[in-house]
Amino acid sequence: MRFSSRLGPRFEPNAFSSLQAELVSRGVELLNMSDSNPTRHGLSPCGVIGALADARCLAYRPDPRGLESARSALAGRFGGEAASYFLSASTSEAYAWIFKLLCDPGDAVLVPKPGYPLFDSLAGLESVRAVPYRLEYRHPEGWSVDLEDLRLVAKASGAKAVVLINPNNPSGSYIRADERRRIVGLCSELGMAVIADEVFFPYALEAVGGMARLAGEEACLTFALDGLSKLLCLPQLKLGWIRISGPRDQVDEAAARLELIADTYLSAGAPVMNALPSLLPGVDDFVGLVLGRLRSNLSEARTVFGGDGSPYRVLRCDGGWTALLEFPRYQGEESVILGLLEHASVAIQPGYFFDMEREGSLALSLILEPEVFAEGVRRIKAYIDSMGA
Ligand SMILES: Cc1ncc(COP(=O)(O)O)c(C=O)c1O
Repeated sequence: MRFSSRLGPRFEPNAFSSLQAELVSRGVELLNMSDSNPTRHGLSPCGVIGALADARCLAYRPDPRGLESARSALAGRFGGEAASYFLSASTSEAYAWIFKLLCDPGDAVLVPKPGYPLFDSLAGLESVRAVPYRLEYRHPEGWSVDLEDLRLVAKASGAKAVVLINPNNPSGSYIRADERRRIVGLCSELGMAVIADEVFFPYALEAVGGMARLAGEEACLTFALDGLSKLLCLPQLKLGWIRISGPRDQVDEAAARLELIADTYLSAGAPVMNALPSLLPGVDDFVGLVLGRLRSNLSEARTVFGGDGSPYRVLRCDGGWTALLEFPRYQGEESVILGLLEHASVAIQPGYFFDMEREGSLALSLILEPEVFAEGVRRIKAYIDSMGA
């Protein structure tokens, strides 16, 4: 058979996944310290089942943008008009639609580095090139966009859009006001759109204020993405949304074209769309609960790995669900993650998974139950300390 090259070469399990599979088959219970599936960690809001049990779900009322009642609820909660929202099955799908809308095969979109590897696959599946732009880290100030690099790669690649993840996964950095001004200016100058992924926006941890959503940006064509996966820890419900804003003529043209794409799939399901208006009022309380857990786990990581003269460093974490831990480089990342798996029964993603520039970091998921998180960081420290002993 001849297959599309979109998928790249056939996936072969790497040393980490082979060892993990072998340990699981031997009955070893692994503690996954990078797991970001909230439904495995006791995080789900109340009232979901009741909200889904709605007789209106039995009617099929196709609307390419998604049910009006759901879009109005989003507009009421996040601003804009109901007509500026498009509902999809997930933010991942929303990316795919926007890539189809903006790009021809071979076109480029700019993505942050370090970043979540999902964007490479999403772009690849649309035959689009994901071209990285740099984020740089200074301790203790935190992360910033390398704006010179962004301008250079934007010009060299002729990119159609820049993806801004606000805050980014795994760096946790929000787009600052000065960065936003410069990036939006660059987009207007070069005719690029902004794709702003704001799924982690409400989860501010060490940020000191000044964060703002890009959703609703008027100065350039902007597609802001969000969804229930992170907002209410309900990835299994499959609901994401796009809010379009920008210069009126560009928005009208983009929305008319996006409507054709959305109409081809009609992805969002009636149960979750009907439930949305009664789920959204619970967002503030639920986010508050999740924030409490994220902050407590981050503080635990700082206690365990901090202290005068510690060879570890937890990077500044302005927001999101992940903290990056730099460890003393007695051995490289590959050897550390394999050792942790085999000798401490801990599975964890290394920095290279996210294209970190510096070798020697691990990604800690902050949404784990606090006792589990505390046990995991204790095991990680004990194992790495033992290598330096
Ligand atoms: C920044 C970011 N955006 C989007 C997603 C995917 O969200 P969804 O479940 O809505 O596709 C992820 C997944 O972890 C993510 O990290």
